[in-house]
Amino acid sequence: MARDQDAMSAIVGLCKRRGFIFQSSEIYGGLNSCWDYGPLGVELKRNVKEAWWKSMVSTRRDIVGLDASILMHTKVWEASGHLKGFTDPLVDCLLTKKRFRADHIKPQSGTVLRFTGAKDRNSEAVSTEPYAVLATTKGDIDKARKTAREFYRSRGIAEPELLGETQEEVENTTRFNPENGGLLTEPRNFNLMFKTFMGPVEDDSTVVFMRPETAQGIFVNFLNVQQASRLKPPFGIAQIGKSFRNEITPGNFTYRTREFEQMEMEFFVPPNEDERWYDYWKNARFNWYIDYGIKKENLRLRDHTTDELAHYAKACVDVEYNFPFGWSELEGIANRTDFDLKQHSRFSGKNLSVYDEATKEHMVPYVIEPAAGADRAALAFLTDAYAVEGEGKDKRTVLRFHPALAPIKVAVLPLVKRDGMPEKAEKIYNDLLSHSVHSFFDINSSIGRRYARQDEAGTPFCVTVDSQTLEDDTVTVRERDSRDQYRIASGLVVENITSKLRIS
Ligand code: GAP
Repeated sequence: MARDQDAMSAIVGLCKRRGFIFQSSEIYGGLNSCWDYGPLGVELKRNVKEAWWKSMVSTRRDIVGLDASILMHTKVWEASGHLKGFTDPLVDCLLTKKRFRADHIKPQSGTVLRFTGAKDRNSEAVSTEPYAVLATTKGDIDKARKTAREFYRSRGIAEPELLGETQEEVENTTRFNPENGGLLTEPRNFNLMFKTFMGPVEDDSTVVFMRPETAQGIFVNFLNVQQASRLKPPFGIAQIGKSFRNEITPGNFTYRTREFEQMEMEFFVPPNEDERWYDYWKNARFNWYIDYGIKKENLRLRDHTTDELAHYAKACVDVEYNFPFGWSELEGIANRTDFDLKQHSRFSGKNLSVYDEATKEHMVPYVIEPAAGADRAALAFLTDAYAVEGEGKDKRTVLRFHPALAPIKVAVLPLVKRDGMPEKAEKIYNDLLSHSVHSFFDINSSIGRRYARQDEAGTPFCVTVDSQTLEDDTVTVRERDSRDQYRIASGLVVENITSKLRIS
């Protein structure tokens, strides 16, 4: 499938039609940047999180889990630097009030028209209102004049005065709205944390923030977890949970939203082992996506340049996926050094060091952090699984999910609604459910259409009860990817499917 916006629209359409993802509050016109996971989507995302937890916690002896609260003491955000530094520079259009991220506006050049206008011509103290508009092409001069007229009209000034037109390169500034040429405000820093109040009184003393990352819940619990689980570095603490950021430019479906779920793990290591573990996690995390089905050509690692590095990081690499809207970050793996534990030590007055048996000294561990997003990972697995193939009546849309991620594992289909086939199929269906194999029963429409519906939902196996079942008690198993079909005894369905799910 071409990696373009058409592919993205097709995926968004399928997500709504098949119940993967819906717009939040849709019946009220929707809430920008918020999404709800439907019956298939919630299974997919749960499976993604389960796959992550399995690789991070359930199969390892050196990583334990945590589920910290979303609301935390305000001092946490002071210590972490989020109160001061978690900001984006914003500029507003003086005419439309539309907001832009200053760093997203490219350098511009063109003709700058400068105006002035008297606010009240009859008053003695005439105050003027300076304004400017940029026309990037010759043809845009009329549009620029129109923008200026609208600006002054909105301030009750009928005839502004044009002071002059100059050809200018507006390098590295953020002064003009790329949409209408109008002047923008000076950049102001906007904190991305959502604020709320704790308790019934709404004043400065009761402000609390919704966490913008799950990581800080881990750092502030470092000693609790370390002492309770008696682990020594190198060891890790993993957490999956919601985070909130008042993003200025959310978009690309569930890729950038204001409420999202993170899967983060902080791995605490002796300071001199940081580089080795950084390399280890970089490879481990890249391979995790490949193991669960992402095609290698659609995944890459991209090292951060020095000026991209966060203030706390010694090194950082992004795992990027080739989405239809371009290569974009799925996960960051950072060497956060001892920054966070030292900051929390300083602000809380608590000693967050551990005793090192080797050196017989106390040390503050370094932290290697693989930080992933559950929504982004789910979107990447969905996009990568999506294929439209075949021609004519053979044409089909299929989601080639890894079986562990597939929302439904098996569909049980009686060929017709008579001759005892529905009853036999029901029995197999119940058997699968009682073994916790997430299954689906479908009795309506032709068998071809039912297979097509399951292909589109990404179901790896279909089990069909047909007339031969009534003779020899065998059923047809159809595999999604190859469309191969074979027969097995009906009593072996659970064993056959579960063994396939285990090895895949
Ligand atoms: N503790 C480090 C940290 O939070 P980050 O790169 O800002 O690092 C980690 O976030 C991951 O969280 C990202 O790689 C992405 O998968 C996910 N994420 C961050 N902001 C997001 C947003 N606005 N919408 C969806 N996912 C987001």
